[in-house]
Amino acid sequence: MQNLAAQETQTKSYDLRDWRQGYESQHQESAYWLDNIEGKIPPELNGTLFRNGPGLLEVCGQPLKHPFDGDGMVCAISFRGGRAYFRNRFVRTAAFLAEREAGKMLYRGVFGSQKPGGWWNNAFDLRLKNIANTSVIYWGEKLLALWEASQPHRLDPYSLETLGLDDLNGILQPGDMFSAHPRIDPSCHLDEGNPCLVNFATQPGLSTGVTIYELDPAGNLLRKHTHHLPGFAFIHDFAITPHYCIFFQYPLFYNPLPFVLGWKGAGECLQLLRDRPTRIAIVPRTPPYEGMQFIETEAGFVFHHANAFERGEGQIVVDSICYPSLPKVEASTSYRDIDFDALAPGQLWRFNLDLQQETASRQLLASRCCEFPMVAGDRAGRPYRYLYLGAAHNPTGNAPLQSLLKLDLETGEQQLWSAAPKGFVSEPVFVPKPRGDSEDAGWLLAVVYDAGHHRSDIVILDAEDLHRGAIARLHLKYHIPYGLHGSWSPICFIR
Ligand SMILES: [Fe+2]
Repeated sequence: MQNLAAQETQTKSYDLRDWRQGYESQHQESAYWLDNIEGKIPPELNGTLFRNGPGLLEVCGQPLKHPFDGDGMVCAISFRGGRAYFRNRFVRTAAFLAEREAGKMLYRGVFGSQKPGGWWNNAFDLRLKNIANTSVIYWGEKLLALWEASQPHRLDPYSLETLGLDDLNGILQPGDMFSAHPRIDPSCHLDEGNPCLVNFATQPGLSTGVTIYELDPAGNLLRKHTHHLPGFAFIHDFAITPHYCIFFQYPLFYNPLPFVLGWKGAGECLQLLRDRPTRIAIVPRTPPYEGMQFIETEAGFVFHHANAFERGEGQIVVDSICYPSLPKVEASTSYRDIDFDALAPGQLWRFNLDLQQETASRQLLASRCCEFPMVAGDRAGRPYRYLYLGAAHNPTGNAPLQSLLKLDLETGEQQLWSAAPKGFVSEPVFVPKPRGDSEDAGWLLAVVYDAGHHRSDIVILDAEDLHRGAIARLHLKYHIPYGLHGSWSPICFIR
């Protein structure tokens, strides 16, 4: 109630019409040097920022019900010697090409987008469209566009041309999933301190199979093991520590009937059971991978975990963005007409897990509406001090993400850089400075939609001090619809 009262007294930081414009489809694909720049690109910033997200909010003129159903469009911004080169391209998935060829929507979307023609034209069509729209990562000398319910697509990192579905050198079999939230262990104790990529895949069923993959820097399989969680599970993200993978299994009820009968998308058939606990599965990463534990905590929903680490013997800390209910758009409403005030904000919570006592306690670390957490890569799975997030401009209430927030988890200090009222931010990506010796020695890179010019900017902030303001603001020639996830590669992919 306090939040609601405070919300009523603060001025709204955005105009819904401005926010809505950022979800217009972008049909253009191009490649060009960025020369419309405010400020100066740090000359020592060398490498490539990759971003992925829905580029089209329609299929052949048919509007989508939910942006998560949009075809993936990958952007790359390569930096070298104080200059930057941009390109964007749609992932040419088989379904994307088939729909272009047919000139009409051929697939239903998981989040509720339906083929035209009513329920009878959607009933019993249970095919999944791999839209390759959730994240993009360069690993094992391959650029991979990720979508959690299927195999990744491989792209050329220079041209972003789609090279096809990729089975990761035979690791994946046809039909296998590979989550869009791989974690990179910066120094794996099983591999002489070398980094490795840790990812998971789920296999739905009466019990949910969870397979964990660990890949070396060349993309070869190091370890693979499968575990089973009793009951239904929808797991978008996970967390790692040096010795564990951590999965949150929310108390979701899934009734597939409305999906099968063509009334709803599969994702709309989920319901959070508030009277049941969330179950946290802690899976050992060390062979023989035995001794998986379950710990219960309050009901809730998490899309994204910020980080996790081990604290002393048998203690694990997990920091996550939690929602008290399942964030979803009502069946009768378009996401474009969303009432932000009617939804609960995502907030940063810390879960303290005691493996000996099998207990969990949680505390609110930051009440401001936030999403898309990011930490310095060398702190992944380790104790850490600084966390970066996309956040609302106002300290209370639910709102679009318009600012970037830096949290000092030791002192509680918060630094906020805001793009309000006309700017809307995306996930910040942390890029370490060469020869930096503090955890926050780096830059934050984010795509920011500028509704005033209906275009997007690449904004560069000094992660050591967000109050310095933008070091550089690179104006693109057109807007990029709000994206999901991305990553940084130290390789500058400019031919
Ligand atoms: Fe995600």
